[in-house]
Amino acid sequence: MTVFSHEAFVDHEQVVFVSDEAAGLKALIAIHDTTLGPALGGCRMYPYADEEAALHDVLRLSRGMTYKAAASGLDFGGGKAVIIGDPRSQKTPALLQAMGRAVDRLAGRYITAEDVGTTVADFAEIRKATRHVVGLPVELDGTGDPSPTTALGVFHGLAAAARHRWGAESLTGHRVAVQGLGNVGWHLCQLLHEAGASLTVSDVDSSRMAKAVATFAAQAVAPEAIYAVDAEIFAPCAMGAVLNDDTVTQLRCGIVGGAANNQLASEDHGEILRTRGILYLPDFVINAGGMIRVASEWNGYDSDLVDRGVEGIGRTLLAILQSAEADGVPTHAAALRLAEARLTQARIGRAALAA
Ligand code: NAI
Repeated sequence: MTVFSHEAFVDHEQVVFVSDEAAGLKALIAIHDTTLGPALGGCRMYPYADEEAALHDVLRLSRGMTYKAAASGLDFGGGKAVIIGDPRSQKTPALLQAMGRAVDRLAGRYITAEDVGTTVADFAEIRKATRHVVGLPVELDGTGDPSPTTALGVFHGLAAAARHRWGAESLTGHRVAVQGLGNVGWHLCQLLHEAGASLTVSDVDSSRMAKAVATFAAQAVAPEAIYAVDAEIFAPCAMGAVLNDDTVTQLRCGIVGGAANNQLASEDHGEILRTRGILYLPDFVINAGGMIRVASEWNGYDSDLVDRGVEGIGRTLLAILQSAEADGVPTHAAALRLAEARLTQARIGRAALAA
């Protein structure tokens, strides 16, 4: 396994390999960039096929967090943690506390939160070993699960994109294909249903699909059939790299935008979407709602500020779509350019202060 020469290692400040045999913990913490502030990012628990897959995931995810904070105007850096293991069978209080101790050893350079495979209740356990944690239960002065806020940000983003693309006043009457009916996907379906959109859904968990059919009058399709659905919008809300060689040519929608992190398997797929006339809404911009909320929890929760930040996702996306169109570049590249500009400005400011 390579680390320093790994293609996703680029520019990482620090990668920590965590091991606690007694607690059964094997984890990685990646801190990508702390120019704007302490690294903030979720802790995922997943039964990775091997250690290399876990490293690949944590490096790509932590880098995405740097860009997410930068594009959203947050004063945080990018980091992420992954615990190697099956959350259904291997998660124990001892393992979570051991993870808390690992986070604590970083003395505030990394602040952790929920992600796939971890829950608000898990963070009450992690909190026993570190105060560098957000997304805590309300009884521990936290703001609970950030997923509804992530879903709301995606909803605002989709509405702004539909306005930009079709001049649509709202999402009423549009068909949206939602992949993944977990914490974010479910809340997004709720918002879309309330707004009068029609839904086609898929999940590897068939009971969730059945519930969506009953609750939202959704059409359900098999997981591999979601890409070719005849819908105006495709919303990936499951795992990453779903926009890849196999799928981008199947898409029949006009807009792709959803909560999943790292949706593009490679940047080339962003260019393919552009040439096919499909508007891709960069993941780290449209899915920033949860980060905006947990960042506010860290700074002293302010619901008005969170509401304004989440509504702002639509405006940020619009600016990115316009700049991508003006320059004939993929939307993902235009979003990276926006985030990099903020980072460069902050580095110049820091250098000036140090001089
Ligand atoms: P979750 O674990 O609650 O839900 C994921 C859902 O996707 C599950 O229902 C699962 O069965 C389903 N799924 C897995 N593989 C699938 C496949 N191949 N096809 C269809 N469905 C599949 O996760 P959550 O919290 O809803 O997050 C979803 C995505 O959004 C993840 O990529 C996460 O990293 C990202 N995200 C989540 C945020 C949050 O606030 N929860 C914030 C920003 C990003």
